[in-house]
Formats: sequence, structure tokens, C-alpha cells
Amino acid sequence: MSAVAIIDFGSQFTQLIARQVREMGVYCEIFQSNISFEIISKFNGFIFSGGPQSVNDSYSETNEVAYEIIKFNEVTNVPILGICYGQQLICHYFGAKIKREFNQEFGKTKIKILKESPIIKGAWDVNSEVDVLMNHADSVEITPQGFTVIASGVINQTIAIIANEQRKIYCTQFHPEVKATINGSKLLSNFLDIADCERDWTMRSLIEKQKEKIKNTVGEKKVIAAVSGGVDSSVAAALTYKAIGKQLNCIFINTGLLRKNQTITMLEEIPINYVDKSNLFLSRLKGINDPEEKRKIIGNTFIEVFEKEAKKIGDVDFLMQGTIYSDVVESGHNSGNTSTIKSHHNVGGLPEKMNLRLMEPLRYLFKDEVRLLGKEIGLADEIIFQHPFPGPGLAVRIIGEVDEKKVRILQEVDEIYINTMKNYDLYNKIWQAFAVLLPIRTVGVMGDGRTYGYVCALRAVTSSDGMTADAFPFENKSQHSLIFWDFLQNVSSIIVNSVSGVNRVVYDLTSKPPATIEWE
Ligand code: XMP
Repeated sequence: MSAVAIIDFGSQFTQLIARQVREMGVYCEIFQSNISFEIISKFNGFIFSGGPQSVNDSYSETNEVAYEIIKFNEVTNVPILGICYGQQLICHYFGAKIKREFNQEFGKTKIKILKESPIIKGAWDVNSEVDVLMNHADSVEITPQGFTVIASGVINQTIAIIANEQRKIYCTQFHPEVKATINGSKLLSNFLDIADCERDWTMRSLIEKQKEKIKNTVGEKKVIAAVSGGVDSSVAAALTYKAIGKQLNCIFINTGLLRKNQTITMLEEIPINYVDKSNLFLSRLKGINDPEEKRKIIGNTFIEVFEKEAKKIGDVDFLMQGTIYSDVVESGHNSGNTSTIKSHHNVGGLPEKMNLRLMEPLRYLFKDEVRLLGKEIGLADEIIFQHPFPGPGLAVRIIGEVDEKKVRILQEVDEIYINTMKNYDLYNKIWQAFAVLLPIRTVGVMGDGRTYGYVCALRAVTSSDGMTADAFPFENKSQHSLIFWDFLQNVSSIIVNSVSGVNRVVYDLTSKPPATIEWE
């Protein structure tokens, strides 16, 4: 089987490279940059990810493996693709100067294609201008010897694509792996062709591999699973159940921070134990304003409850969680180089010491891959295609202190927002939608009287994996524009008229980045 090794230098996007490669039917693995070269020497191609560091910083031994791969390429011609920091690393190796000047670029920009190359074949024509996503402070000053410039930045002539065709080494300063780079996946696909990779990797083979892994890890022990009714925990539990059957014990905890009338159905044969701990969670959150502190408290309380439940069952060694890769990346846990965006509760929010061993069978998968996997193992579409709901629940959607009254208000708003969205046939067009309760109150007028109520923000985003997102365009471009506008007006009016305590509704237009999806 063909395989590509991705060397992770700490980019937020590393998993997107892996996901795209896998989507193209090629097996790939991500390795941290301190991996020993011997372990990865058999791969058909190497991709160096981006990363937050600078090659001009003091000597970093994590660059060593990249240099060994480049030396290996000199002998074997094994193809290499360097992305962003990966490009700078390769150019640095070949003696080019890397500069940090005013032309730092973060976000969408345009490049111009100057020359043909197998790496851009079928993606972009010579002389065309292409939208790409750049995310760098450093850039390559002068092309290293042996390399040709294939594309450069339209505004500031950044060296955007370079190639050493003879050695099959390719570099991009931008990120071809993100959707914001138009047709970037074709560049990745071309790289796989250059590396002679067969397209023989499927979701079925991933499932079989994961089941095998779960069986080997667990042996005869019992596993306790946190299930919430959401996509990730349902898919993780169903997959684990398929692997170890009744050794899996599913527990559904009511944290008091769930959606109104949250129910849970996975596969019929999987038994679920309900535990109501809403008072415990809400009392621990009393007086807490800081979002990270809230997450930690929820994470700790979860584990405490689980350890108690595990004792009741007896002989439980593992705690299974539906952590997916965006949780891992944003909690800064995938490599020493990634910075923490937020401690997703099923990752960073866990206590340092716990008696259960963690099992996270979806840890390396993105949401859309999780959905595909769920479908493949027989979960219903209503489970798989529901919008994501964060582990810490409404606590991250109530800004500031959480209390029972605010939870009730937000549950009502959320129910109206989502149900109206379904009535307008919008739910499946949107990747994730929810309401946020703000800790500010504003003046309104109802029935000739003054009101002083909470502001509620509505969020609806398009995304494919939660790593990047755009506000859903309730706007004029579409032929449904009137219906969409009518939806926003209507839903805001229903909310304000029927939820006591809310007198103003706003819509969040921010993309991710620079914002995140949840407000916290
Ligand atoms: P952010 O807000 O980081 O969210 O842009 C990205 C996606 O992750 C979801 N999310 C979580 N999911 N546990 C989860 O299982 C968490 O702690 C958590 N925090 C955020 C969020 O709803 C969005 O889909």
C-alpha cells in the first residue's frame, strides 16, 4: 500500500493535509518532528507542514528529521512537499535567506502563476491569479539554487511556489490544504501522483484498523464511555461497541448544560445508563466567569462522576471519549509546537491525575470523516448529521457566570432558533448553528413599557471540519435571499416575544479565524 508521511511542525492545519490525502484514497500518517528517520524511511513521499517557529531562531533539533529526508531525497529522489514553514525549512537547508519584514501575510491573498510545473497541472494555468491562504511572518528572500519560481504573490511578490523538478522537491508558502486556497487540493493530488501513490485507502479499512486497535488496547477489561447524544460520542461509542461489545458501558450524564429535551439514541443494541448530576455541575460553576476555568471545572467534575460510576460497575480500566482532531489541535495537544486556543473539555479540561486510562478512537479524525465513519457503521442520519454540540455544553455559550436561570433562557432560545431553522429547511445547509447568551442587558420597549433584558447572539457557520468557518450568508446573493432574511427577522421576533428576559437579538458575522466558532 502506498503511504505518505506528514511531518508536523505544529501548524493548526496539519490534520487538514492528512484528511485531504486520505480523502484522495492514499494512506498517510502524521509524525511529530522529533520522529527518528528510520521509522519513516519507507514512505513514498514526505510533506513538511507549516509551523509557528522561525528557521532563524536558535538551532532546533526538531528540524533534523527534515534535513535527513532531504539528504535521503538526494539518493532516492523520494518526493518532498514543504508547506509554509516547510518551504522555509527546505530553502534554509539549501542556503537561502529567510527574512522577517513588513510583508507578513495572514489570511486570503492572491498569487500569480508564472510557470508550468507538474505540481500545478490541472489546478492553475500560467498567468492566472489564484486566491490562496497565507499565514506567515517569515518568507524566503531569494530562491535557492536548483529551484525555479512557479508562482509569486501579486501584492508583494512573496515566493509562493518553487520547485526543483529534478529532485522532485516542491514548496508552497501558502496552505494548499485549506478550502480558502482555491483548487489547493489539486496541488496535493498532483504531489501524490508525483510520489506514485496508489489510491487504495478507504473508510472501511480505517474502521477495521480502529476496531483491531481497540480490541488490542482493551483486552478483557471494561470500558466506560461518556455519551452525550452528539455526533462524536455516538460514533465513538458505536465503533467501540462493534469492537468489544458488552465490555463497553455507556453513561449519559445530565450536566444541566444540555439542550432542552436532549435525548440519546445510538444503535438500538447499546444499553445506556442515565445519571443526573445537573445540581453538582451548576453549583461548581457558581461565581466562575473565566472561560478556561469553567472548562477545567466541567472536565474535572466529569471525571469525578465517571470514576464513581466506574467503581459501581467494577473492573473498569478505560474511559472512552469522542474527542476528535479539531479538539486535539485547538487544545495544543498534538505536538509541542501548537499553541492552545481553548481547552476542549474532553482534552485539556481533564485533570492531570485520573484513575481511568483514556481511549479516544476518533482522536485523529475530522468531523466529516467521523460522519462518514458513523454512516458506514450504520448510525441514523439524524444522529450523524446533527450540528456539533460542545462537550462543556451551554456553559461555553453563556458568557460569564452560568446559572440555572440563564441556562433555561438559552435552552428556550436555542430550541426556537433550531426548530425555526428546520421549518425553513435551512438546518442541513448550515454546518453549525446556535445561540449565545451575552452578559449585557439593553433597553427595549414592549407593550408601551420599558424592558431591560439580555442580548442574545445567533451564530450560523459554514465549515467542513470546524477548523475554519465562515458566517452563513443570510444575504442577497442567493435566490432565497428573501426567505433567509425573513427567517432572521422571524426568528428574532419569536425569541424576543416568547423568551422572557431577552429583548434583543444580533447575528454574528465573524469568520474563523480570526474568531472561533463558540464564543466562550
Ligand atoms: P471553536 O469554538 O474552537 O469550535 O472554533 C470548533 C468546533 O468544536 C466544537 N467544540 C467542542 N467540541 N468539546 C467538544 O466536543 C469541546 O470542549 C468543544 N469546544 C468547542 C465547537 O462547537 C465547534 O463545532
